[in-house]
Amino acid sequence: MRILFLGDVVGRSGRVAVLETLPKLRERYRADFVVVNGENSAGGFGISEAIVTELLDAGADVITTGNHVWDQREALVFIERHDRLLRPINFPQGTPGKGAGLFKAANGMDVLVINAMGRVFMQDLDDPFPAVERELEACGLKSGADAILLDFHAEATSEKEAMAHFVDGRVSAVIGTHTHVPTADEQILNGGTAYISDAGMCGDFDSVLGMDKEEPINRFLTKIASRRFAPSLGEATICGVGIEVDDATGLARAIAPVRLGGKLSQTEPAFWVAEA
Ligand SMILES: [Fe+2]
Ligand SMILES: [Fe+2]
Repeated sequence: MRILFLGDVVGRSGRVAVLETLPKLRERYRADFVVVNGENSAGGFGISEAIVTELLDAGADVITTGNHVWDQREALVFIERHDRLLRPINFPQGTPGKGAGLFKAANGMDVLVINAMGRVFMQDLDDPFPAVERELEACGLKSGADAILLDFHAEATSEKEAMAHFVDGRVSAVIGTHTHVPTADEQILNGGTAYISDAGMCGDFDSVLGMDKEEPINRFLTKIASRRFAPSLGEATICGVGIEVDDATGLARAIAPVRLGGKLSQTEPAFWVAEA
């Protein structure tokens, strides 16, 4: 099975790039399942219901989020209408929406997607480790799901690596999000789980984390906010990873970065495009 994951979509340029490119990528890679992190898709902050629909129509099977999930307050209500929109699983009990779901891929297989959030240098949610463990006990690889993808939305690379090794051999892939900067450590862990510390963002890299550079620089210099952060509007780089999953075991055979458009050096998974 071929799973395509795209990192945090930031603002209009990220959104336009993903909406335009995703249908073509889905076809080009013959992807069976697509997950997109949409936490910054509405003006850099949160997600709107219209954008949820647009991303799903463009070919996302599931939209994950993170610490920005409630920035558009109406998400607290509309998330209940969209079972393909996830929020981190380790929010307190009673939080609207859900943090995991089982979804049918194009090849007929059942994919469990879990969205969890780290706690180091971030909001103090419930412990993500037992939250993920409980989910895997309820729906493990080959005892409920044919493939399992964990979007671990976290700041600290240590926490991300620890989570990945904690579930190694029990999930198909652990994909880090939130830092908006792609890392070069994509690998298959010893137990067979594909891992990358951060997939990177779908946004303009002539920026500070997708935001127009001026205000972030100003805040570092003066420690005084002078205006709101606004997404940078230059051409986006689409950042993500392609994961090849062994249908028999649900474990990963390969992982490689996708970086298309914008300022970053371009790359695609060779194992998907070699014949193209
Ligand atoms: Fe983000
Ligand atoms: Fe985030």
